[in-house]
Amino acid sequence: MKITVFGTGYVGLVQGSVLAEVGHDVLCVDIDAAKVAGLKAGKIPIYEPGLEDLVRKNHAEGRLDFTTDSAQGVHHGRIQIIAVGTPPDEDGAADLQYVLAVAGTIAGQMTEPRVVVTKSTVPVGTADKVRARMTEVLGGRGSDLHFDVVSNPEFLKEGAAVADCLRPDRIVIGTSDPASEELLREVYAPFNRNHDKVILMDVRSAELTKYAANCMLATKISFMNEIAGLAERLGADVEMVRQGIGADQRIGYHFIYPGAGYGGSCFPKDVKALIHTARAAGFEPDVLAAVEDRNNDQKEVIFRKIRAHFGGELAGRVFALWGLSFKPNTDDMREAASRVLMEALWAAGARVQAYDPEAMEEAQRIYGDRPDLMLCGTKEACLREADALVVMTEWQAFRAPDFEMVRDRLKTPVVFDGRNLYDPARMARNGIAYYAIGRGLVPPAAEAEAAAPAASSAA
Ligand SMILES: NC(=O)c1ccc[n+]([C@@H]2O[C@H](COP(=O)([O-])OP(=O)(O)OC[C@H]3O[C@@H](n4cnc5c(N)ncnc54)[C@H](O)[C@@H]3O)[C@@H](O)[C@H]2O)c1
Repeated sequence: MKITVFGTGYVGLVQGSVLAEVGHDVLCVDIDAAKVAGLKAGKIPIYEPGLEDLVRKNHAEGRLDFTTDSAQGVHHGRIQIIAVGTPPDEDGAADLQYVLAVAGTIAGQMTEPRVVVTKSTVPVGTADKVRARMTEVLGGRGSDLHFDVVSNPEFLKEGAAVADCLRPDRIVIGTSDPASEELLREVYAPFNRNHDKVILMDVRSAELTKYAANCMLATKISFMNEIAGLAERLGADVEMVRQGIGADQRIGYHFIYPGAGYGGSCFPKDVKALIHTARAAGFEPDVLAAVEDRNNDQKEVIFRKIRAHFGGELAGRVFALWGLSFKPNTDDMREAASRVLMEALWAAGARVQAYDPEAMEEAQRIYGDRPDLMLCGTKEACLREADALVVMTEWQAFRAPDFEMVRDRLKTPVVFDGRNLYDPARMARNGIAYYAIGRGLVPPAAEAEAAAPAASSAA
């Protein structure tokens, strides 16, 4: 089937290549000429496991191509997928200018009927706006060509996007038109062989489903971060609590990891957008507002621990930072907790020596050259002469470091762990002061021994 995808970001590029991989003839359109030229030459603009091979293979085999020529894109596919960005505007609502621009482009250039599929995350009612824009543009051309607008939200996870698109757990199709339904079922048939993953619904429910999914996941994280804050104040260990509640199948282990706050291009903006949607509908979203507040505060927790440890004296200090991306297996730093931390450290006069397995170029792009940021070639290199190590992303490469080396390279043996990667007792045995999330401070070994009788009698 001939399919056009507008937008070659995390969603458009991955979904476009996966659709090509199963045999569809896919043309991806982007307005970013440098990106398109790079893609044609096999240069992948983002890091996503498995993506490079998939793009190169399908491009070489002629099922996947890239263009900036929107007319060619509109001409190519009976199905036109919109996968452009929907960033928040100043009041938190999803900015639909890119989506509606594509709708206008399709209507302005179509010469045959088209089915427009919104894959971008868009607020309830957007399909109606896309429809209205297209009707207006077609009307201006004196055309009454048939088109339909279908909602088909994307649930991929960055860092596992290719695998998620190759093996989706659900395929939500929002349409009331049987012909569009049939067409979309045909597109996704190769992903639907084991059992039927299609969940068919009306357009508005499909649009809301995507926001509800992301907001539910964000809620789990913020809830757990709230419990972590409580655990610290009550002398409990949130990691024990996490295991204790995760074992309950009604709760489960997913998305209950406490940490330095959620980031990325989706959760923060989608929570904001749904809050905006709710208020516009005259309904106060108490839970969502609390989820957002908790997360904003959580992104400052590690900085507060650092400031307290150093008695507020941070000017001139150097911090080794492991992890820049908002989560592992991606180079995406949008809304990353590492950025909030670095910016707070800089404002306090400290310097940062950072390492990330994939996001170094992105950090360089965002911050450029500045005297208080040194991007280091290895995780070991950034420890040199640092006052402390701070871990902000749970990359595999950070999970089992040589703690003796960490202790010996740091000026003072102290580790701030925004992802609860390490065992507090082991850190104490290594003589490292260790601050995590919701686990209290485990003092270095000597102090731990001195404190042991009191601790055991308290237990
Ligand atoms: N990133 C994720 O993990 C994820 C997951 C599910 C859903 N989504 C949603 O998918 C949408 C896209 O997200 P993303 O992360 O891929 O965005 P992105 O910013 O990585 O990519 C968007 C792309 O669209 C291009 N673009 C903008 N206007 C265009 C136009 N008129 N014609 C053609 N191309 C145009 C941009 O140049 C860019 O390459 C958003 O609505 C997002 O909320 C994202």
